[in-house]
Amino acid sequence: MIIWNEREHTFHLCNDKISYVIAIAHERYLTHCYWGKRIATWQQGYDYPALDRSSFSPTPAQWPDRTFSLDTAPQEYPGHGAGDYREPAFEIRYTDGHQVSNLYYLSHRIIDGKPPLAGLPATWVEQETDAQTLIITLADPLTQLQVELRYSVFDGHAVIARSARLINQAAQPLRLLRALSCCVDLPDARWQQIQFPGAWARERQWHRQALNPGIQLLDSKRGASSTHQQPFIGLVRPETTEMQGEACALHLVYSGNFTARSEVDAFSQTRLLLGINPHGFGWQLAPGESFQTPEAILAWSDEGLNGLSGTLHALYRDNLVRGQHRHQPRPILANNWESTYFDFNEDKLLTFAANAKALGVELLMLDDGWFGERNDDTSSLGDWFVNRAKFPHGLRPLIDNVHAMGMQFGLWFEPEMISRRSELFRQHPDWTISAGGQPLSEGRNQYILDLGRREVRDNILAQMSAFLENHPVDYIKWDMNRNMSEVGSNAAGPAHQQETAHRYMLGLYALLETLTHRFPHILFECCSGGGGRFDPGMLYYMAQAWVSDNTDAASRVHIQYSTSLLYPPVMQCAHVSEVPNHQMGRSTSMAMRGAVAMSGNYGLMLDLMRSDAGRDAAVKQQIAFYKQHRQLLQFGRFWRLVSPWENPDFAAWMFVAPDQSEALVMAFSLVSLATAPLKLLRLAGLDPHARYQIDDSEKIAGGDELLYRGMWVDPPISRDYTSRIWHLTRLA
Ligand code: DGJ
Repeated sequence: MIIWNEREHTFHLCNDKISYVIAIAHERYLTHCYWGKRIATWQQGYDYPALDRSSFSPTPAQWPDRTFSLDTAPQEYPGHGAGDYREPAFEIRYTDGHQVSNLYYLSHRIIDGKPPLAGLPATWVEQETDAQTLIITLADPLTQLQVELRYSVFDGHAVIARSARLINQAAQPLRLLRALSCCVDLPDARWQQIQFPGAWARERQWHRQALNPGIQLLDSKRGASSTHQQPFIGLVRPETTEMQGEACALHLVYSGNFTARSEVDAFSQTRLLLGINPHGFGWQLAPGESFQTPEAILAWSDEGLNGLSGTLHALYRDNLVRGQHRHQPRPILANNWESTYFDFNEDKLLTFAANAKALGVELLMLDDGWFGERNDDTSSLGDWFVNRAKFPHGLRPLIDNVHAMGMQFGLWFEPEMISRRSELFRQHPDWTISAGGQPLSEGRNQYILDLGRREVRDNILAQMSAFLENHPVDYIKWDMNRNMSEVGSNAAGPAHQQETAHRYMLGLYALLETLTHRFPHILFECCSGGGGRFDPGMLYYMAQAWVSDNTDAASRVHIQYSTSLLYPPVMQCAHVSEVPNHQMGRSTSMAMRGAVAMSGNYGLMLDLMRSDAGRDAAVKQQIAFYKQHRQLLQFGRFWRLVSPWENPDFAAWMFVAPDQSEALVMAFSLVSLATAPLKLLRLAGLDPHARYQIDDSEKIAGGDELLYRGMWVDPPISRDYTSRIWHLTRLA
């Protein structure tokens, strides 16, 4: 999968779908040649057009002519200060105060498989034959900085995984001001960018616009990947649609501050940069020390946005998520949050559990409020022991009862936080993230624990382990409800303060690594006030994530549509909730709430303390349907058909079994129109040579008819917030 051409000095990384080509230009500079559809044999060496002699682009020192400049050459890991005026991938300050680096090719090696990244989440492979990794070492002879660039190419996925390790080989310390994961210099700028701006309960709003000259910067400085942006750069050609055209994505396997920059230069080239946000970042490297960047995933498709999603979904399902739940059907849960909020006790929860069980629910999920003295959001984070006022006999009787009913038991934790009103704060007021005595801002009445400190995460680990050893919990919803402010560490010296946010992430990852290995049977759900940390970094530890605190089905059609560009439905927790909806005040049909929840990882957030015969009968039916089709919905191929971001009134998507033997098509009416246009849905992913039966009806259609001509939405869905599901079965 990796071919080194000794004569032309090129590396050709390829599989049956893609090629990625790097050339060593003039025996020195690591330059980018190509990323895209597979090329059988890469013949050429560095072939970049010679520079206009009158240009203002400097040539390197002692260069024989004026035809080459770092200012225009496409590079793999550009530095700063030696003639390239575009954004650099890394920046260093040396002890003598200067900031210029010149990195030259030193050596390379090619290994089978894909080694892990120390302390960081990353994609992985089961067998050494599933991937190959190229490690290129670059060095600056003057400053003794070395950089190891890693490129892994997977067998079968149209993906390259990249990262960098910066090593200080000098006798003096150096300071990293920026250390990004990758740079990709594309030869043209005829791209549009897709991004997902958002906010709490309004995550991942789909936005597509042309790249402009200059820098387009998306980032997070919030200490988390956040609801405000997704750590990715998505590019499509202007003509690309869901079904066809070129599309690519750079996606960061990281959950903290990030930067995602696209820079269109004077020559209409596009530089893409992705990595840890340099804002507020600094890292001191003592002699001999190294810094490992997070991994960036580079995915490419010429089969439209659905092609890109298919690639990422398969990669994340098979090569990112770990543990025993990876390919296991996920349980149907009922969460008590919107039913009781903080107001519950054992009796109430037993009623809730019995009602859930009667509907077919498989797991009772007890949300916030079961610990310390927590009755609202002003106290007790950090005190991971049972709230005796609510559970005088502890939690064990409730858990045992739920298990006796034949259901699993799930519990909410927010382990990264501390409330001022808590035992933990009384004992360790200095354990919060804090900046040199500046007054601490509160977010939801809470502060953030400095998880970069070993004693802090050891305390949380010990509390949680002790609790979990004595309570047979099957599922944990791991929440995180505020972003960082006053960032600094009480335990670090002045030279290390700017390491706090990244050390926090490393500490969080270490904590998760230990917990998930210590309790491998527990299924973890990642939550951050909804989808505030829905990123590949967290999904390495937790197999699924809460998409949004917005449980309104109409809002969710939009949010889940966007989320599915990058993540498969099985990773997206989605619940049926009450109407009028608690966040939006909107009423949607039960059918639509069910279809939307089934398009993720189905659960209930209904008020099950209240009995409602009509509602319960409908939910029971839905759950039976979901169980029947769970395998297809959770592990089938997901295809987006009609975008709610382009059509105010309508959206559609579908699921196809891996062997194309069956499919579920779902359509949603958002705002009904009088005398509405007819709707012919062109389906996707079916076998064009097969015949499919539609529902249990007499209706039979060829796969090719459904793919090329389409299926009528007939009769039309003619009410606001309603939906329809069709089940297609391949005939023998
Ligand atoms: C935010 C989460 O997103 C909600 O689902 C709920 O768990 C609350 N936190 C509890 O405080």
